Amino acid sequence: MDLERARHEVDQTLKSLLAASLVEAPSAVASPIRFAVLAPGKRVRPLLLMATHTAARQGRDLRAGERTAVFRMACSVELVHAYSLVHDDLPCMDDDDLRRGRPTLHVEFGDRAAVLAGAALMPLAVEVLSTAAVDLGIGEAAAGRLVGILTAASGGAGMVGGQLLDLRAEGRSVGIDELDLIHEGKTARLIEACCLMGGVAAGAEEAVVERLGRYGRALGLAFQVVDDILDVTGSAKAMGKTSGRDAELGKATYPNIVGLEGARARADGLVDVALDQIAPLGAAGGLAHIARLVVDRER
Ligand code: IPE
Ligand code: IPE
Ligand code: MG
Ligand code: MG
Ligand code: MG
Repeated sequence: MDLERARHEVDQTLKSLLAASLVEAPSAVASPIRFAVLAPGKRVRPLLLMATHTAARQGRDLRAGERTAVFRMACSVELVHAYSLVHDDLPCMDDDDLRRGRPTLHVEFGDRAAVLAGAALMPLAVEVLSTAAVDLGIGEAAAGRLVGILTAASGGAGMVGGQLLDLRAEGRSVGIDELDLIHEGKTARLIEACCLMGGVAAGAEEAVVERLGRYGRALGLAFQVVDDILDVTGSAKAMGKTSGRDAELGKATYPNIVGLEGARARADGLVDVALDQIAPLGAAGGLAHIARLVVDRER
């Protein structure tokens, strides 16, 4: 998979999805939503969904119309992610003013717009996913399962729940099991969801879907471990967000609990677990490449 090309296609798809859904929205509503979604993110989650779909197809060519539907499905996860960042940055959450190299949404448009623009993205994500699933023609049961995967990973037992646990852990000492629970909820579940969705959308057999899910869960946890490391070692210029915030906020992080070296070892170990899961699959070069990017990244 050509990642640059796929990233460009994700960006184009996000633009056209927003253009269609915001056509009748007043600019006071449309502008903050566009700002949240179209800012230059890495698009790791949609790229993962595309790469798992490729691996799960095991060499089968895409049918006519399938390609655009899978890209739209991939973008549904990015919409959830974009909303999670807008809320994550709010003054009552992590209180950040820089995101993706730009002012955060609440700095640019105010807290009220940030809360509401964020809230608008979750139902939009479900609508985009449901429509894409119908266009794929995979049947009602599989379509319902896809929606269930995304909503469960986004909700109380997933991202939102993890975010609340993260905030509740500020300023106190936390053990590694509790930290894993926080990070799995706030970050790994959505990344796992991308991989499950790629497998289900491609009609893979259950054992393959489960394998892709285990890859995603391990890689998702590694992703947050590296995010914690970069908060200590990275620069705002490279990351497009302020570094050192975790220490200022008294966040529970891997470097804080096991040190930088321990955190790096944990991230490497998790990526090995992820790579082991996909080793038996064909057409998984894209997944292996993304797994390495997750640990080698600087942003
Ligand atoms: C940041 O996610 C928040 C986490 C879950 C760690 P990303 O590092 O994927 O942020 P963008 O989308 O590239 O801005
Ligand atoms: C954010 O984790 C996780 C979600 C947005 C769900 P962080 O708070 O560590 O993300 P950054 O560092 O602000 O991007
Ligand atoms: Mg946070
Ligand atoms: Mg944050
Ligand atoms: Mg962070």
